[in-house]
Amino acid sequence: MLTIALLCGSQPAIAQQTDPLAPTGTWSANVDGAAITPPMGWNSWNAFFTDLDEEKVLASAQVIVDTGLAAKGYRYINLDEGWWQHRRDDGRMLANTDRFPSTRTPDGATSFRPFTDRLHGMGLKAGLYSDLGRNTCAQAYMPDQTNLPRGTLTQREVGLYGHIDQDISQFFGEWGFDYIKIDGCGLRAYGPESERVVSGRYRALDPILNLETVALSDIPAVRGLFGEVKTALMRYNPDNDFVLSLCIWGSAHVRAWAKDIGNVSRTSDDITPHWGRMLTNFDTAVTRELYAHPGSWNDPDMLFIGKGDFDADHLTEARSHFTLWAFLNAPLLIGSDLRNTPQPLMDIFGNSALIALNQDPGGHQAVLAYDTDDLQILVKTLADGDKAVAILNRSSAPVEATLTAAHMKLRDDAAIATTDLWNGEGASFTGEMKVTVAPRETRAWRVRGNRALEDGMYLSELPGQVNPAVDGLTVPQVDPTIHRAASFGTRGSGARPFYTGWGGARADSTPYGRVLQVAGQHFASGIGVLANSRLEARNEGHRRFTASVGVDDSAEDADNEVTFALYGDGRLLTRSEPLSRGMPAQSLEADITGVTLLELVARTRDAANGRLPVTWGDAALMQR
Ligand code: GAL
Repeated sequence: MLTIALLCGSQPAIAQQTDPLAPTGTWSANVDGAAITPPMGWNSWNAFFTDLDEEKVLASAQVIVDTGLAAKGYRYINLDEGWWQHRRDDGRMLANTDRFPSTRTPDGATSFRPFTDRLHGMGLKAGLYSDLGRNTCAQAYMPDQTNLPRGTLTQREVGLYGHIDQDISQFFGEWGFDYIKIDGCGLRAYGPESERVVSGRYRALDPILNLETVALSDIPAVRGLFGEVKTALMRYNPDNDFVLSLCIWGSAHVRAWAKDIGNVSRTSDDITPHWGRMLTNFDTAVTRELYAHPGSWNDPDMLFIGKGDFDADHLTEARSHFTLWAFLNAPLLIGSDLRNTPQPLMDIFGNSALIALNQDPGGHQAVLAYDTDDLQILVKTLADGDKAVAILNRSSAPVEATLTAAHMKLRDDAAIATTDLWNGEGASFTGEMKVTVAPRETRAWRVRGNRALEDGMYLSELPGQVNPAVDGLTVPQVDPTIHRAASFGTRGSGARPFYTGWGGARADSTPYGRVLQVAGQHFASGIGVLANSRLEARNEGHRRFTASVGVDDSAEDADNEVTFALYGDGRLLTRSEPLSRGMPAQSLEADITGVTLLELVARTRDAANGRLPVTWGDAALMQR
């Protein structure tokens, strides 16, 4: 759509296109920036909050180099909130020279260049933090912190608002940073009625972000501001060496559009060092497998290994946290003070087998193969044809689990070789394997076996290659399945559902978490999406597309007819009859030799309630 192309900034303006379901022949998820695999590194926030300084940051950076973590991929050293002094009256941002002595310059203009040079000289990359509004999170929510910007009211306006181009030019062009995390508190917490504004400490900015109620966010406005940031990043990083991290905690329905602009996008509010809260953050990302691709990843927040439920006395939980983040293709950003992190926790960060999964070039986030409130099985497709499997016990009692060949889409009559990702032990089984999973434990293996689908790949095994360009969801809905933890205290009425994303496209599931089924026929594999959707799928050398399509049995509406069409590089390849609920799945098949981009369009004339789940059953790319 024209509006989207303009807001994205980096995209060339395309012709006015009124039908969002019309094929475009192009992959529309972001590929700009340096995040072809999830970013890895360290961030100051969980270790120090705003109390950071140069010595602390460089000491952790040195440990990353000395312990070999840098060689394993941990490259970004990111300053979170707390690096600034204030904004000078001509708009220039000044670094806090007391905290970062190397930023002092004779003319007082300050420069982070010596700091970033130092990190670059260590073979590392440098990141920093800003806010999309005028003011920041700590100014709003941590007024007692000592390390807040000082000066006049306007000097304390350190956020990007009104200064996007100037700041990005300074941070990247002049100072040499490589990564920026952009928060949204300034767009959320400074309404005219807020105490911080009424008291005269900060200027009002009408809120356009609302974390609790998506209808109160101005989604196009927020998206437009991030689009401006992206344009500036492209301008000042002609070498494409930048990372744009969106931090609006899953609000403004960012799940649906961050993938078109940024490299990583937070799916939830802040992680805390509590088991329940980690599960919340995990839940906000684990069902978004089709919204993450090389170049744009789901971000359930930074690792909190090192504190609370994830400290050295809780290695089971700490290992679970790390395993899950690896399977989610989450950014692996260490959040502990590495000057005194116990060795068993350093060993967790250094688990090469799990790092390899996270950084696998296939870029496929794990898919839920088994899902209950207590136990979940995740399966991740790897570029070399192996699979990785994790079994998470969320509960406080041990669970006897049975892992079956079917969970991994492998044949049950041939041996499956397993390598334990924590102790390296090899084993094999045929058919199924019984495992005991301790409370809060996540068992994980790399596995190799014979594929059930011998001659091709199900699209649901390749989520990194499938992009829900239009997912059919017209009104964002809150997801009732996300764990609601008590970690922020028990005042008030509890954590009510407020993360949107319910109804988004899914692998091996309907958009509402049901099994895929058309006229009584169950599909263990397939893509579930709402009608009036357009999925893009990259084809890397396969020659035939096959699927069985229909309106899912879980649809409330029995009358609406849906037509399924498959396009190859913008050209119609095949189309179904109009199908409604209860009609048997229709087989769709097409020669896709030489086609690089498929588009799967499910169109209906009237899905007024926006809740018409359709199923691309067994959708697969075949060799012959
Ligand atoms: C929050 C953000 C945290 C941290 C903090 C800084 O909004 O989610 O990760 O950056 O702001 O104040």
